[in-house]
Amino acid sequence: MPVTKIEKINSNSFWCFWDITESFDQLREKVVLSEDGVRELESISHPLKKKERMAARCCLQELMQHVGKPYLGITKDEHDKPHLIGSSYHISISHSFPYAVAILHKKLKVGIDVEKPTKKLGKIAHRYLNEEEFADCKGDLRKLCIYWSGKEAIFKLNGKMGLNFKRDIRIAPFTLHKQDVIRSEFSVGNATARIALNYKEINSHIFCYCF
Ligand SMILES: CC(C)(COP(=O)(O)OP(=O)(O)OC[C@H]1O[C@@H](n2cnc3c(N)ncnc32)[C@H](O)[C@@H]1OP(=O)(O)O)[C@@H](O)C(=O)NCCC(=O)NCCS
Repeated sequence: MPVTKIEKINSNSFWCFWDITESFDQLREKVVLSEDGVRELESISHPLKKKERMAARCCLQELMQHVGKPYLGITKDEHDKPHLIGSSYHISISHSFPYAVAILHKKLKVGIDVEKPTKKLGKIAHRYLNEEEFADCKGDLRKLCIYWSGKEAIFKLNGKMGLNFKRDIRIAPFTLHKQDVIRSEFSVGNATARIALNYKEINSHIFCYCF
């Protein structure tokens, strides 16, 4: 049985969590794929990656059903950001086996990310953390993961290539909890946008979303 959960964030926004227990074929049968989606699927050979992607699209389909709208699949823009076909609602997806997630917002751009804390995040920390963030982490793997996953979620919200994780996306120091909201911001040229970054730890994975 699939373990799927939809949580209401507010009246305009919901997120869906999928614990993948199905085979690829079971997931493929469930979900609508656009022509782009079919082409994209054919280009992926790794069985687990194919399965994760199907589950993420199942999340989107569930979310659209939840808000009473048809799901016609997704298409990608020139930056690879996914958009719903036939709907102006904003979406974002992420997958890291055994989980896939998606978020939907009726009015605002959104970003979501799921990540497992691994030692690799410490090894590449100099690439994505500024001095203040580096000092705040003190090598704590869960904190490193929140910084990384949070920046990925903010990157996806903005959706355009060229954002530098270390320079352009900044997360304020925070005290670690199971879940919380952290102050953050990102800059594009001279403009800076403030973001409330939500994180949550579930089964040793970090989930971040923002809008
Ligand atoms: C795009 C990126 C955020 C994807 O994250 P990831 O951890 O590899 O994978 P996730 O499962 O979390 O997310 C994948 C989804 O992101 C979405 N995505 C890809 N590009 C996107 C973009 N420009 N905007 C929004 N969403 C995007 C896709 O829908 C993708 O899912 P799909 O392939 O099933 O359609 C990641 O590759 C990245 O960080 N790219 C920027 C490169 C960069 O500057 N890195 C700096 C490191 S210091």
